[in-house]
Amino acid sequence: MVAHSPGRVNLIGDHTDYNEGLALPMAVDLGTTVTFVPDGGERVVLRSGTEPEPADVDLHVPLDPGLLRAIEPSWARYVAAIVSTVRPSSGGSGTVDSTLPIGAGLSSSAALEVATALALGCESEPMALARTCQRAEQAATGVPTGIMDQLVVSAARQGCALLIDFADLSMRHVEMPPDVEVVVVHSGETRALERSAYAERRAECDAAAHRLGPLGRLDPHVALAIPDALLRRRARHVVTECARVRGFTGALRSGDLIGAGRLMSESHRSLARDFEVSTPGLDALVEWLEGRPGVFGARVTGAGFGGCVVALTEPGALDLRAVRTPAWRVRAARGAHLVSGGH
Ligand code: GLA
Repeated sequence: MVAHSPGRVNLIGDHTDYNEGLALPMAVDLGTTVTFVPDGGERVVLRSGTEPEPADVDLHVPLDPGLLRAIEPSWARYVAAIVSTVRPSSGGSGTVDSTLPIGAGLSSSAALEVATALALGCESEPMALARTCQRAEQAATGVPTGIMDQLVVSAARQGCALLIDFADLSMRHVEMPPDVEVVVVHSGETRALERSAYAERRAECDAAAHRLGPLGRLDPHVALAIPDALLRRRARHVVTECARVRGFTGALRSGDLIGAGRLMSESHRSLARDFEVSTPGLDALVEWLEGRPGVFGARVTGAGFGGCVVALTEPGALDLRAVRTPAWRVRAARGAHLVSGGH
């Protein structure tokens, strides 16, 4: 079977998914294709064009985080975690080809998980697929990540961003206006969530939620009255970010691109000051982009701690050759699907 999964860029709404909040990510036309041919054997062997060592995994590898995290090469941990959650009936071999930058906040790991799961014969209903792959991601990395990435790369519709309410996992497709461009610029800093403060941020949110309920649904007045200054800032980010997702979605729908861009820039400042997941390099890149003519707004996208910035611009406003790091104009792509070998 041959399966393709897009990566994703999050237009707005970061660190809201594990807080039962809102986000508006978009699947992109960069992605990962996995081929798999069963051979009746006991091993799954995938070779990647960008990795020197193959992922060579026992068909019966247990879903044991300690064991999975000791597997080498490290990219094979994701393949092993998918094998242990999907449980294909036969081993076999195949290939992985990707146009996604690794560790850049564009969900290269979710794309690898989802494309591998589909190629191994996992059921393709988006919610079930996303849950399987989120479980695999958590086991492979030991990081308590949310479901946003796996869900958007599984469920997206071409030409649309995906509004997700993580309180009940309801989704709405939001058409991207034709007169706008989404540009992704790499900061030059890669990161691995395992070595970042992601788990610490989640623990801080959980500590506040323990007394007050999920932060994504918190009354802003309650959030601003949290006595602990650090938890108050974390909660303030989540509460205001959810309001920005609502505002941004409305602005996109009514064609108010200036308003949408302003909300992106506010989101960046909230992620930098209140949630503390930005870096000086990301801040400088956002500031530089905001100063270019035709740029409506810019922000870090995904978990932060490095990776990419996303900008909303007038078509053609940015000359990507003037950017010193890798940059892409991306379009809203459809979600993961079988390219061949499906029913
Ligand atoms: C990573 C996680 C997601 C989400 C984002 C931040 O991409 O995998 O679940 O929490 O960070 O919004």
